[in-house]
Amino acid sequence: MRLRGLIAVLGLVLLAACSHAASQTPPRRDLVGEGRALVEVYCISCHAIGETGESRLAEAPPFRTLSERYPITALEEAFAEGVLVGHPAMPEFRLEPDQIDALVAYLESIQPRRGG
Ligand code: HEC
Repeated sequence: MRLRGLIAVLGLVLLAACSHAASQTPPRRDLVGEGRALVEVYCISCHAIGETGESRLAEAPPFRTLSERYPITALEEAFAEGVLVGHPAMPEFRLEPDQIDALVAYLESIQPRRGG
């Protein structure tokens, strides 16, 4: 009797430990989604952020055209170094490495596919 109770308790403890361990692994990040949320807050007032549409500020290039000028991965470095934060009419942005990852993932996701 007692043993059985003990085993049941042990089982519960193990179960709890396992689900605890599972909840400790961070959920996979939705980088593209995070990036989209970022540009919707910080960039949409000037740039076209999607796969279609015009920029609200004519001089601001639509994001989907950025890869015509640079590889998107080059932007990652530029954002990290703050090179892009100074362009005319664009407010200063200080992006965290986390945010840059998300931003770059999003920008990559909207570039037109090339080749095949
Ligand atoms: C207040 C308006 C404004 C906002 C907000 C803005 N931009 Fe810009 N952005 C511009 C303008 C204008 C240009 C074109 C200026 C130029 O080519 O020098 C530009 C150009 C760019 C370029 C191309 C730079 C180059 O050297 O060709 C990138 C990349 C860019 N913006 C990214 C962003 C990102 C990312 C955000 C949001 C975090 C953002 N911008 C928010 C106005 C803005």
